[in-house]
Amino acid sequence: MGRLNVNIDHIATIRQARRTNEPNPVSAAVICELAGADGITTHLRSDRRHIQDYDLIALKQVVITHLNVEMAATDEMVEIAIGVKPDVVTLVPERPQEITTEGGLDVLSNKKAIKSAIKGLNSAGIFVSLFIDPDIEQIKAAEKLGAYQVEICTASYAQLNEHPGDATVRKTKAIEKELARIRASARSATKSGLKVAAGHGLTYRNVGAVARISEIEEFNIGHNIIARAALVGLDRAVREMIEAIRIAQAK
Ligand code: PXP
Repeated sequence: MGRLNVNIDHIATIRQARRTNEPNPVSAAVICELAGADGITTHLRSDRRHIQDYDLIALKQVVITHLNVEMAATDEMVEIAIGVKPDVVTLVPERPQEITTEGGLDVLSNKKAIKSAIKGLNSAGIFVSLFIDPDIEQIKAAEKLGAYQVEICTASYAQLNEHPGDATVRKTKAIEKELARIRASARSATKSGLKVAAGHGLTYRNVGAVARISEIEEFNIGHNIIARAALVGLDRAVREMIEAIRIAQAK
């Protein structure tokens, strides 16, 4: 069975909305592990909009499964990763104003920076995964640069699945075509000796078809799990606050 790494960034997004100390991403990581997650994924963004440097240090101390840190291939980030020593670093592209990662790395056009980041991280004993679009040329380039794993970007597949209500023949064909690209890329990566992960935009509704691709060994999923947690946890949270008020007023 494929491994699930839960991306806990949006726990930190909620905390950062108030610049306070809760909810704590480390507590979230522990809950994910207790629920059976195989690993924790987190993205240290250059603008520090959610996860902070101190979160990485704390996560490294507390996570007992597997810690995957996503980051841009910059000298600043590589230095931080070498200090923290997560199990894996996933190199991702980053554009300053983006809402979330917009597609995979262009490995072919950024060979020098990626090669240097892989070299530095590997010398500190950190495996490197490259987040790439389902594109055979990018996979070949990732293999040549010595990546350990590729994470295939499922964002386009996820976008096509966003409005299931307006399923048309054209849309269904487009989804099939995107799945075929992901499948072919996963096969090609496995043949090249690379480990294969997938992620971005995966949901309870769309994960099935991707999970059926046997070459994909790992899934990195965040937003949809945290979104669901907020809703399935809300009922209990409201009841607990009503109870806290009731107890105080009964005294
Ligand atoms: N994989 C990578 C490389 C990402 O950048 C992200 C988002 O941080 C994810 C997986 C998780 O995506 P989502 O939050 O849409 O599940």
